[in-house]
Amino acid sequence: MGSDGKLPTSAMVAKGPKGWAQRFLNVGFVAGFLLVLLTYAVVSQQSQRFGAVVTSPDDVAAISKQAIKAPGETGSAQEDGGEEKAKTTTPAEPSADHHQHQDTSGDSNQDDQQQPEQEWRPKAVVTEEPPKQDDTAAKPFDNGKVVLTTAGPYSDTCDVFGDVRTNGTAHTVTLVPATSFTERREWTIKPYIRRTMSGIPEVTVTQLDSTSASSPAPVCTVRHHVPAIVFALGGLTGNYWHDFSDALVPLFVASRRYGGEVQLLVSNIQPWWLGKYEAIVRRLSKYDAVDLDKDDQIRCFPRVTVGLRMHKEFDIVPEFSPDGQQLTMTDFTAFLRETYSLPRAAPINLKQTPEKKPRLMLLHRGHYRKIVNVPEIVKAAEDAGFEVAISDPRFGVQVDELAKSVNSFDVLMGVHGAGLTNAVFLPKGAVVIQVVPYGKMEPLAKLDFGDPIVDMELRYLEYSITAQESTLLEMLGPDHPVIKDPESVHRSGWDKVAEYYMGKQDVKLDLERFAPTLELALDHLRQQ
Ligand SMILES: *[C@@H]1O[C@H](CO)[C@@H](O)[C@H](O)[C@H]1NC(C)=O
Repeated sequence: MGSDGKLPTSAMVAKGPKGWAQRFLNVGFVAGFLLVLLTYAVVSQQSQRFGAVVTSPDDVAAISKQAIKAPGETGSAQEDGGEEKAKTTTPAEPSADHHQHQDTSGDSNQDDQQQPEQEWRPKAVVTEEPPKQDDTAAKPFDNGKVVLTTAGPYSDTCDVFGDVRTNGTAHTVTLVPATSFTERREWTIKPYIRRTMSGIPEVTVTQLDSTSASSPAPVCTVRHHVPAIVFALGGLTGNYWHDFSDALVPLFVASRRYGGEVQLLVSNIQPWWLGKYEAIVRRLSKYDAVDLDKDDQIRCFPRVTVGLRMHKEFDIVPEFSPDGQQLTMTDFTAFLRETYSLPRAAPINLKQTPEKKPRLMLLHRGHYRKIVNVPEIVKAAEDAGFEVAISDPRFGVQVDELAKSVNSFDVLMGVHGAGLTNAVFLPKGAVVIQVVPYGKMEPLAKLDFGDPIVDMELRYLEYSITAQESTLLEMLGPDHPVIKDPESVHRSGWDKVAEYYMGKQDVKLDLERFAPTLELALDHLRQQ
């Protein structure tokens, strides 16, 4: 730790009064309140959606194949990885305002009146997967099989087994049956984990029939012996939290079982993204990612999964892992620790080394939802026995540097925002303190960070500020509905919530009120 020279070493921080500014860490990410917009919509829709899932399980279909004589397969097949497509590492990253915020809240207008579902549990969606095995359950894959999964609040995916051929430029995935006859069928899948996301090209999955004379099976030009995963980038990626929630976590879940022996076919490819997270993506797939939209080959695979699934925002529900793997968020964070060679798997042991100070990273947002009394918080935390460093969120930092920095801390503290995503790099058993802005934001805070952090087996502490700790009180006065009646603001829709609670609010912690939270963090570390 501290190897990059930007991190405060114990020597730097240990003694003497000093301006907090000098201890800024230049760690960064895109921090944006946009990230929450989408999940806000999801929170407020969940009970409805899940209700539908539970009562209509038949939108999960397993489709069998019958047969047909396989059309000529004589193509000039190359071996695995024949085509090396763009996987550049050019960090041409978008700026924060580049994120197109393709808002799905539009379809939540009808439930303005609905309170966010606070206590939804994985249990409620257990019926999502596994797919119903219909008539086809007993059939081996020799003839091929398409398994479509459309249940759940977020994602549609299609698993195609057998002789599967992709045409990237056409966005088609074709199952060519080996022997018997069946009807031709077709599905379209948007391979981004949020089915409502706009700007993502759809992929058409076709199972051919015996009369495919009208549309003959494409001839393989590249033959792969490993499965493929088709998925889309773009969307909300570019926001650090969405990078994990919408892509890295679902990709981990989909690909971990292959131990690197899987070909990624990426639609809407973002070279900067693949560059930024190269260390992670490389460990999930040994092969260079193929730019699907430009891929003019016919690639043949034994299995293709079209689309990724998200179980919960920034989280994994073990029961829903493919192939019964029971993956967890701690598998994901352990994987990240390996990937970035993070030295600490556990936080400080205050029992064994009581003379040592636990380290607290205070995320300091530069724009909205910032903490206005940082120096006082630093002093309070130091008085409580912490060594404190301030992290100034900036975009463009190297992830490995950030990961190593965060891993050297025992407590991560910040106001609700993308910076808390860095919890994934903490040692297991460390503490995260989420400061929840004023305005009934707890359900969102829990969904975006609270639940995932608990599933990472970190100690999660939530500190909800009062109106007195919000700059909104001074700005608007005690009689403004934003102060007096947050529920009415929520009922009016996301716009005002975003404008006031997410956008115009800064935070001034009442340190007396906050002190017990610091004590809880210390208590927890003493028990490690
Ligand atoms: C892929 O599909 C497109 C559109 O149908 C077609 O024009 C093209 O020839 C196909 N590519 C190959 C390599 O067959």
